[in-house]
Amino acid sequence: MKSILTSALLLSTALGTVVPRAGKKVDYNGFKVLRVASTDDVKAQIENLAAHVLNPGRSAQLDVVVSPDNIDALTALVSESQVLNEDVGAALAEEGEVTAYAVPSESWFTAYHPYADHLQFLRDLQAGYTTQSEIVTVGTSVQGRVLTGIHIWGSGGKGSKPAVIIHGNVHAREWITSVTTEYFAWQLLTKYASDASVKALVDKFDFYITPIVNPDGFVYTQTTDRLWRKNRQTVSGNSCVGRDINRNWPYKWEAPGGASTDPCSETYKGQAAGDAPENRGLRTQVDSLRASRGIRLYLDVHSYGQYILWPYGYDCNLRAENDAQHRSIATRAQTAIRAVSGTAYTIGPSCSTLYATTGSSTDYTDVTGNSTYSYTYELRDKGTYGFTLPANQIQPTVRETWAGVVSMLKDA
Ligand SMILES: *[C@@H]1O[C@H](CO)[C@@H](O)[C@H](O)[C@H]1NC(C)=O
Ligand SMILES: [Zn+2]
Repeated sequence: MKSILTSALLLSTALGTVVPRAGKKVDYNGFKVLRVASTDDVKAQIENLAAHVLNPGRSAQLDVVVSPDNIDALTALVSESQVLNEDVGAALAEEGEVTAYAVPSESWFTAYHPYADHLQFLRDLQAGYTTQSEIVTVGTSVQGRVLTGIHIWGSGGKGSKPAVIIHGNVHAREWITSVTTEYFAWQLLTKYASDASVKALVDKFDFYITPIVNPDGFVYTQTTDRLWRKNRQTVSGNSCVGRDINRNWPYKWEAPGGASTDPCSETYKGQAAGDAPENRGLRTQVDSLRASRGIRLYLDVHSYGQYILWPYGYDCNLRAENDAQHRSIATRAQTAIRAVSGTAYTIGPSCSTLYATTGSSTDYTDVTGNSTYSYTYELRDKGTYGFTLPANQIQPTVRETWAGVVSMLKDA
């Protein structure tokens, strides 16, 4: 299909796609974020003109990042458009510098950090609590980075309780999700001795928290393209890079409609179910905990949109057999989050509430992983800053999200 495209379309692809020059970072000054009303016949043209589609599962309403040169062409295609962000470059400046901090102090949660420092954060945190935590590895990325997490346990001893698995930053540009999942680990360990309610949670479960499950993509967002989503896997015979790790899980991977078969798409599902190495690692973790002591709760932490979602993604009419319990736990978490900061979350089964997804993590953990509860969080905000949430929103976000997660852990 690609090979027979006309040269005009190739030209517009080249205009829209962000192709950084070697060693040079994409300059987003003057780029806007637009929310446009899309229809099926103009969707491909919109995608070609956009530097990035921020919510690639949605078809009726797309949030797109557009270069100044393509704004007029793109708005001409659609009946309605709204500017969500006037200048992505200015928003990136508000996001703050990527800074190193002494860890594990709470000041870690006031800035974004380089990948190496995230690893150091986990090592330093673990080193302070050697009798109730260890560093665990969950497979290896395309470029050979080790997916690194922390296993935390309580008074029952290591490996004695049902598992809680938490994954962050599977989509590379969702930086708020790594610091948020780190905050969970930080709370569980640093408050264990002083806060009886935290102690009760740590004594109830074995926690497996991996803040950055897509390290190659994450590093690429820091070196090259801040808005990159996928992993960095190539496809033979195609110049586009990256699989969407969260469309690659081998459960209903083949079902139609919830992912793309185009390697250039933000939601490219891969050539075969589970063919992303990062997915293999995550899946091995889920499978082995299912087989050993069972999984009570799985959380996949994303941004943005302020949603708490549960299975299923692949079929909008299907409900989990414990759908009512999923809903009541999510309802209390939603209330707990609102009580901290007023932040409003929308909750519901993922396909019918947000959009269809196939090969997604929570469908896999629910069915194949036999996890009692599986949720996707979509953290702040609702599109104003999107993935590039300013540094001054990190602390409010991690605190409100922790309140939601504590509520879930009490209920689970
Ligand atoms: C699934 O997990 C539950 C515990 O939550 C357990 O009772 C049940 O036997 C498991 N089912 C399978 C098929 O392993
Ligand atoms: Zn995501």
